[in-house]
Amino acid sequence: MYEQVSHSLLNAILDDLKPEIRRQDLRHFYTRLGANFYAIYSLFFNLYGHREDFQQQMLNLVETMAKGYINRSSVLERVDIEREQDHNWFLSQKWVGMALYTNGFAENLDDLADKSPYFQELGVNMVHIMPILMCPTGKSDGGYAISDFRQIDDRIGDLNDLRRVAEEFRKRDILLVLDIVLNHTSEEHEWAKKALMGERQYQDYYFMFDNREIPDMFEQSMPEIFPESSPGNFTWNEDMQKWVMTVFHDYQWDLNYSNPNVFIEMLDIILFWANQGVDVLRLDAVAFLWKKIGSACQNERNAHLILQLMKDCCQVTAPGVLFIAEAIVAPVEIIKYFGEDAIIAKECEIAYNATLMALLWNGIATKNAKLLYQGVKNLPVKLERATWLNYVRCHDDIGFGFDDNDVRAVEYEPFAHRKFLVDYFSGQFEGSPARGMVFMHNDTTGDARISGSLASLVGLEAGLESGDQALISDAINKILLLHSLILSFGGIPLLYNGDALGVLNDYSYRDDPSKCNDNRWIHRPKINWERAELRKKQGTVEYTLFNALKKMIAIRKETSSFADFNNRELLDVNNEHLLCYIRFNHLRPSERVMVVANFDANPQYLDLEFISSKGINIYAHFIDLYSGRSPAQYDRRIVLQAYQFYWLTEI
Ligand code: GLC
Ligand code: GLC
Repeated sequence: MYEQVSHSLLNAILDDLKPEIRRQDLRHFYTRLGANFYAIYSLFFNLYGHREDFQQQMLNLVETMAKGYINRSSVLERVDIEREQDHNWFLSQKWVGMALYTNGFAENLDDLADKSPYFQELGVNMVHIMPILMCPTGKSDGGYAISDFRQIDDRIGDLNDLRRVAEEFRKRDILLVLDIVLNHTSEEHEWAKKALMGERQYQDYYFMFDNREIPDMFEQSMPEIFPESSPGNFTWNEDMQKWVMTVFHDYQWDLNYSNPNVFIEMLDIILFWANQGVDVLRLDAVAFLWKKIGSACQNERNAHLILQLMKDCCQVTAPGVLFIAEAIVAPVEIIKYFGEDAIIAKECEIAYNATLMALLWNGIATKNAKLLYQGVKNLPVKLERATWLNYVRCHDDIGFGFDDNDVRAVEYEPFAHRKFLVDYFSGQFEGSPARGMVFMHNDTTGDARISGSLASLVGLEAGLESGDQALISDAINKILLLHSLILSFGGIPLLYNGDALGVLNDYSYRDDPSKCNDNRWIHRPKINWERAELRKKQGTVEYTLFNALKKMIAIRKETSSFADFNNRELLDVNNEHLLCYIRFNHLRPSERVMVVANFDANPQYLDLEFISSKGINIYAHFIDLYSGRSPAQYDRRIVLQAYQFYWLTEI
């Protein structure tokens, strides 16, 4: 039934399209619209079918896609077609990402374009430039409180500069990643301002209530994101005399996706940025897109429907563009952002692997891989044509969001264990070399997260300060150990600005009134390029780290077993300090790499006899791809030094 209805509706819509749209050459557009229309219609109907203006909204939706298509350049259309033909292109091991703030890496966008040789030097070919759009000063949430979705912050540059970056990247085969902040706007966004003036149409873009009756009901089941600086999920607005839903900061107003106008506006913005030459869009805070009384207002089914609809619509206009889901939620929930109930990715092709990130940090603090093994074992299997973004650090805090059942399975008590982790990384635990800060301690629940740069969290800062060579060398080895895993795990590794140079905590945020309430700024550094020159000087920390990572990246790119085709086998090696998995070439399974990582501060050995049933030839000779040498081996036991890793192949 649906199908006929959708078909006749499609015909009616095509008849109704504005004449200027109809006059264009829309060949590819019509083909793709035809192929996706039934899905689009069904999703849109599911979300908005009860509305009287449904048909009109459906027409608006199609017009938005058509307009987006008309504005797509022929260069980008060629890219679309190439990628449609090679649709698994992003699963290749050739991609290596880095995330950065423009003004943390360079002076501005123009300077960033000039500095792009640095990416090539290291081997990075996918760059996530964090939010560049207009935000009110002092109320910016690091770029995530946007007051104009089409206007670049003029301190950073303008659209021409961004186009230059995109062109420069394309020349060098570097992918450009930008954010789309879907969940909220700044209170100074035009829509918010119109709402403030009392315009009903725009008040309906947000969640607004005259009194506490409904907010109080919501609060019963909603957690708090920033309990220290922005407690609660609603903010009283004096001018409107209304409570506004503000899940993040009080100046970030949540958008109401039960209103189709909001959806269509956002789609228009997505297509606008797709048409600027962006290859991958990072969709921010996607777990929060749907609010339902009685729920945590995260990971709601309708949030998934919205993402599916966005994907299908983007598929029609700009099919070469990928989505990254930023959903920092429980492991079983994250996986759904690839597409619930779908066989191929139907929401976001890429998702932050927050589970792995948290598990890696747990390994550092506990010096064993028990929970890491357990968590990786229980990672749900991904869809085909979907991949992880594997990272150690990013611009946000570290939350220890692994599954409590996994924590219990390895005999830790979840609450006490998380408290240990927070104590460890904030340096309060006896003997911990970490220099992190506690982020957003929640007095009611006892929860807390951690801020701090990678180098400072693994003890480099403490080591350098005390001149303790052993501590310095441990810190370097831990940084390499963590990267050896994100580079080999399966998925796209995402390095963080400064980490290849061992950049420490930046305490200057404390003196800036607009930043001092948010200690995530401690790990959002500005690169000192004079210092960065030390990467060329043997014997420096910068040299050691940079060159080791550069080498690892180069080897990853050559190792086809590291591509992501669900081709990882986790091994139980009967040694809780080691994490070990096999990556095999999905086309030639005999071609494989055994990854082993020692989280302990002492040497450990891998007993090959224990894993002989896994098809490992225990009499084989191994070679470590990273060092190019045979591993230390005695009698069928491979020895790893403290914090050492191997990428072993059999010869
Ligand atoms: C995302 C961003 C984070 C921001 C939040 C609210 O999670 O990564 O930095 O605070 O969204 O926009
Ligand atoms: C919460 C959110 C995440 C956001 C972070 C900001 O963890 O789930 O999306 O990045 O807060 O600190």
